[in-house]
Amino acid sequence: MEKISQITTGKAKSLYTTNEPDQLIMEFRDDTSAFDGKKMEALDNKGKVNNQFNAFVMEFLASKGIETHFIKLLSNHESLVYKLEMFPIECVVRNRATGSLCKRLGIEDGLILDPPLFEFFLKDDELGDPLINDHHIESFGWATQEDADAMRDLTLEINDILVDFFKEANLILVDYKLEFGKFQGKMLLADEFTPDGCRLWDKDTLTKMDKDRFRQDLGNVIETYGEVGERLGMKIKLD
Ligand code: ATP
Ligand code: TYD
Repeated sequence: MEKISQITTGKAKSLYTTNEPDQLIMEFRDDTSAFDGKKMEALDNKGKVNNQFNAFVMEFLASKGIETHFIKLLSNHESLVYKLEMFPIECVVRNRATGSLCKRLGIEDGLILDPPLFEFFLKDDELGDPLINDHHIESFGWATQEDADAMRDLTLEINDILVDFFKEANLILVDYKLEFGKFQGKMLLADEFTPDGCRLWDKDTLTKMDKDRFRQDLGNVIETYGEVGERLGMKIKLD
């Protein structure tokens, strides 16, 4: 499979067309951003670690019946995916209160959320990814009500699967963000699931093992992503 031309370059990944019109190469770069792109740095090996981390999680979800855009790994830092019509929406589930939720509503950090809390955000860096609801989505035509319901249901179904998956590795899945798109009329999980888009805390010590290490300058960012991968049984290649 050959890269033909670059169609997008986001803050952390680039997408390329291929000789198959409905398939794209997703390249995971070392670039790392936080605070809607205000903090940026390249972290050695992040592209390789996140590409292989994402492949492992996407394949695990597929084994549990979740349909995703992931087709196969192409190299240590590239994957083949289906080309989707993306929704400009971010779906967030929270099992514990932290981050922007605590600031917005004055909630105690670490509070257990049972049932898990679901939120939609608009994918728009210039606006700071604002919180939205079903009515905004319908009124502004960002998705139909049926598609919004499907995204929420899938995000919560994935939560049930991933909470247990991370628990096996002695990790708490605190919160995460997913993106979805349509392929031939079907709703598929897209983008990525890596420690860049979720929060993971060690179950015993509550040590942060995700992108908060970068946001808060805690150090050993990629080493810690690698440790999470190892705990989950991944064999990440860095050559
Ligand atoms: P953010 O980090 O806030 O998600 P970004 O756009 O900078 O934003 P990147 O991860 O660098 O994010 O870029 C990846 C882009 O590719 C995103 O815009 C994402 O919505 C899009 N995308 C992900 N999967 C697919 C897919 N299968 N088909 C088409 N576009 C996709
Ligand atoms: P949130 O607490 O809203 O954001 P912040 O990082 O500003 O405190 O984020 C909840 C989870 O979703 C967290 O794991 C980060 C992830 N997320 C993203 O990766 N990108 C996004 O654009 C959003 C809105 C959330």
